[in-house]
Amino acid sequence: MQSQGLPGFRDFFPDETAFRNHMFAVWRSVAARYGFEEYDGPPLEPLELYTQKSGDEIVGQLYTFADKGGRAVSLRPEMTPTLARMVALRARALKKPIRWFSIPQLFRYERQQRGRLREHFQLNMDIVGEPGPLADAELIAAAVDAVRAFGLTDQNFRARISDRRVAHALLAAQGLTDSQIAIAYLHIDKLDREERQALVESLGRQANLSAAAAEQVLDIGTVKDLEALRAALAGASLDDEVGAELAECVDALAAMGLADFVDVDLSVVRGLAYYTGIVFELFDAQRSLRSICGGGRYDGLLKVLGGVDLPATGFGMGDVVLGEVIKQHCPSTQPGPQLDAFLVAVTAEDLPHVLRLAHDLRERGRAVEFALKQQSVTKQFKLAAARSARRAVLIGPDERVAGVVVVRDLETGEEERVEVSRLMEDYGW
Ligand code: HAM
Repeated sequence: MQSQGLPGFRDFFPDETAFRNHMFAVWRSVAARYGFEEYDGPPLEPLELYTQKSGDEIVGQLYTFADKGGRAVSLRPEMTPTLARMVALRARALKKPIRWFSIPQLFRYERQQRGRLREHFQLNMDIVGEPGPLADAELIAAAVDAVRAFGLTDQNFRARISDRRVAHALLAAQGLTDSQIAIAYLHIDKLDREERQALVESLGRQANLSAAAAEQVLDIGTVKDLEALRAALAGASLDDEVGAELAECVDALAAMGLADFVDVDLSVVRGLAYYTGIVFELFDAQRSLRSICGGGRYDGLLKVLGGVDLPATGFGMGDVVLGEVIKQHCPSTQPGPQLDAFLVAVTAEDLPHVLRLAHDLRERGRAVEFALKQQSVTKQFKLAAARSARRAVLIGPDERVAGVVVVRDLETGEEERVEVSRLMEDYGW
């Protein structure tokens, strides 16, 4: 008997499925508020879709195999290449900018740890066809709102924003080559988690830089606001223009009233290889977990994957880390009661009346249950409570004679006798 599933894969028991559905419903309502349309794609794609542009890290985590036709295929580890492929197929016909969202299940063979599994669901929101920074600001705002919608505040999470063009310009101004810059990014990315001195040594060794040069590289990661950004650009004799889009994006978020949620932070690098401009991540405020969300601009990907040259920007927000943050800070964010009413039959003779009422209520769209075998009233009330019913409706011989039912509010315990003819109207059923 194999009672355990695969490591890193979840079983969703009904309470967990209810929580997941709740999360997806909230995400969908936020996406709708921003005018995004939902799309979906296949969970299995040609392997090539990921090896071209996603970068070594994700390629090393692919669930890949040859299908019976000998094609090299892979379970999708992310949605962005599928989106790029799909948009390219209809690029001419689609009105730009395209605002699309999706909630795919994704698969990565990762080392399992807190917040990191081998499958997860991810809200993806992307705008295709708009190169300006207002598109990036729009997505960062949507990401922030998709977390706020669960009751989380600026005390619980932060968005950190950077721009790869700015980081690249600053590093190039220090005389680094593209291959040294790639190594520099990997080290800047670890600034928050690892000891600085060890990073200086490792960077010096790997990129063949002196200790002083490595220090200077890592200093880029200490730029944490627009003022420091301007100072860093001036210090490198670079024009303010280099940071103009990042500044415009941050200003737009401030104008939306979201300044409290966002920080400029040039230490945000992002693991995926295709990002070309503004990049961002959302983290829990204590930074005790991995990122809740990551995204950015990827202006070259549609050309590589679909042959159409369209700018694009977007993000992915995973259900695993967000779920942990919600449970930590808003434990009451659980889906409400499942049942409108649990019907209770006092005797066997009352059962046909319970069945009749149950069906009438279900016809009206109410969620209703009753005990599937005859049992004591006490047991039936216990079952009603266990099913999180909002109300119990009791029918007994006395009630039948009087043409009434007893309605008990299961939260307050209050009871009232209601005429059967008034039941639907009184409770809005
Ligand atoms: P990503 O940074 O690889 O970006 O993933 C985005 C989010 O998905 C992460 O912040 C994390 O919450 C969640 N996530 C990723 N891997 C795992 C895992 N193994 N277990 C649990 N959660 C995970 C992307 O995937 C980009 N394609 C996002 C994007 C869309 N960029 C532009 N558009």
